[in-house]
Order: sequence, then C-alpha cells, then structure tokens
Amino acid sequence: MIKDVLKMGDPRLFQPSEPITEFNTPFLHHLVSDMNDTMAALNGAGLAAPQIGVGYQVVIFGVDHNPRYPDAESVPYTILINPELTPLSDEMEDGWEGCLSIPGMRGIVSRYTKLRYRGYDISGQLIERECAGFHARVVQHETDHLMGILYPMRIRDLRLFGYTDALFPGENIQDD
Ligand code: NI
Repeated sequence: MIKDVLKMGDPRLFQPSEPITEFNTPFLHHLVSDMNDTMAALNGAGLAAPQIGVGYQVVIFGVDHNPRYPDAESVPYTILINPELTPLSDEMEDGWEGCLSIPGMRGIVSRYTKLRYRGYDISGQLIERECAGFHARVVQHETDHLMGILYPMRIRDLRLFGYTDALFPGENIQDD
C-alpha cells in the first residue's frame, strides 16, 4: 500500500530507529511491501522506514532509469536491515541529493566515496558489500534516516540548497 511520506518538520524523522530482532515476520514483509509501493509511486532512489512513520532500521534503495535522477549510475535494488557502514578511505565527494521527505528541493552534501556496508535481508541473511560513487551516497543517505539525520543537516554551504526548478532551470527533473 502506498503510504504518506513524512515531511521535514515532523519530529518522527529526527528519532533514532530501533533494530529489527526477528526476521521473516508478517510485520517485516508488510513493512517492506508498503515501502516498495511508496518508493515506486514517488520514483524514489531509496526510502527508510521512519519516512513512513515506522521507527525500525529498515531501508530499501535501487536506481534504474529514475526520472528524479536521470544521470545517476544504476544501483541494485536492495532491502537492507540493521545497516552498519564502514568508510574504506577518508576521501569524500560533493554531490546533489534530494529526499522524498523534502519534496522539490536539492542540496550539495559531502559523502564518503567508498565504503563497506553490512546488514541483513528480509530473511535475516547477511548482506556484505563494498560500493562507491552514487551507490555509496544512497546508502549513506538512507542510513542517516535511521539515525534521525536528514541531508540538509549535513549541508555545509546553504547557498547550495534550493528548489530543483531554480537550481536546474530547463532540465525538467521530476521532483515532487
Ligand atoms: Ni531521504
């Protein structure tokens, strides 16, 4: 079922989420199903459970020809539960981010370029991957949601935060 996405200002977005302790449950399948429906309906690159008001450490992400991110490299569709990130170098890179909880806006955020992530799939199987570039950016953005962090809290220069149509005039990027 498509759920309402909480918007920035809602205090639930700033609360740390709880870890999942039981896998393969009806609760978890229902939650992921709602997250899939909601992300697909809004063309999101990722979605975290707290964005639909569920305070557990569950994120989904994946990018393949996304009209919100027309130039982005593809990222494999992944359900990631209780994620832990480890940067693989100190190198960071600036890039534009948007968020379904902050519709119509984009900002420049610095993120680690390479990292390892660990977590679990819906059955409790370990997922362990190394990634870089946009894949690494999306994982960092979604994992931040589980700590109550929204991307504007990481913007260093607020002149690089604004409305998508004003930042990218004429590019017709879908962002609502
Ligand atoms: Ni987001």
